[in-house]
Amino acid sequence: MNVLVTGGAGYIGSHLIGVLASAGHNCTVYDNLATGHAEAIGDTKLVTGDISDTAALTAAMRENDIEAVIHLAAFIEAGESVEKPEKYFRNNTLGGLTLLEAMRASGVSKMVFSSTAAVYGRPGQIPIRETDRTEPINPYGSGKLCVEFMLRAFAEAYGMGFVALRYFNVAGAHPDGLIGEAHIPETHLIPLVLEVPLGKRESVKIFGDDYDTPDGTCIRDYIHVMDLSAAHVLAIEAVEAGGVKVFNLGNGEGFSVRQVIETCRAVTGHPIRAEVVDRRPGDPPSLVASSQNARDELGWRCEYPDLNTIVAHAWGWHKTHPNGYC
Ligand code: UFG
Repeated sequence: MNVLVTGGAGYIGSHLIGVLASAGHNCTVYDNLATGHAEAIGDTKLVTGDISDTAALTAAMRENDIEAVIHLAAFIEAGESVEKPEKYFRNNTLGGLTLLEAMRASGVSKMVFSSTAAVYGRPGQIPIRETDRTEPINPYGSGKLCVEFMLRAFAEAYGMGFVALRYFNVAGAHPDGLIGEAHIPETHLIPLVLEVPLGKRESVKIFGDDYDTPDGTCIRDYIHVMDLSAAHVLAIEAVEAGGVKVFNLGNGEGFSVRQVIETCRAVTGHPIRAEVVDRRPGDPPSLVASSQNARDELGWRCEYPDLNTIVAHAWGWHKTHPNGYC
């Protein structure tokens, strides 16, 4: 299939395009390079454009005979979305609408959408299932949930087909160590912890140790970026006209912040100093996925479910690229 990957030069996109190509798909990346890196996509075709630009999106789809879209382009910091909601609703939510209209104008009727565990807010039960209550607690999550609603409306009105993938905590890097996570600024736990052995910071902060969890720190479900990418390939092949399928993507196992730091110590052999500070506003105590539906309906299997492997692959990238793509 000819696939347009919006945000394809970002962390997830750069891994995804390799997996799509291995599965025989032909990718075009559409990215404004605000946070993405042209260096991360090798010789994959790049169209530089913004998600708010209907004409550029329409042209990119027409000129490349696009048959399906994987929509990753978005801002990703839940904390920032609380401070600057307009930034998130404009880019992530209105951007989603712009893309849907451009798809209609170009006759493209299939999309896989990058959604998030943030749509659940503070979950009522663990593990979280797709049918559980969605009550986002920040504009990042509510903006993504708005797009899910749009998908339902467009499927019903125009017979378009969608799969929304609700990511849990994406981590790791390509096993070859040549591409990986390079956010500026970095906010994610594993790359921040690894900055200590890299000599880029003295210690890592633990945002609260008084949660109602076994060691008092927050629990998250870490999913390898290669496994997450593989799910998109299955998803694009599972899109059905006139409907929206929703899948959680996680490992189904939770690890606390302290356990993640301990794993990073074991992988790097560095003592990694940690200090407990106040809770970060908006952090739910525990987010762990049930991905049973993705296994049953997409046939998805994780190749790298082990946290040690996820951290080892992240370390393989960061230690050889301490300044990312710079
Ligand atoms: N944490 C620390 N110290 C740090 C950074 C993070 O203790 O320096 C903690 C956080 O409080 C949280 C856990 O580590 O408990 C994971 O934090 P991340 O920032 O790595 O990830 P989040 O769970 O906050 O966010 C992830 C995605 C977001 C998405 C969210 C959905 O990165 O894009 O899941 O719930 F919005």
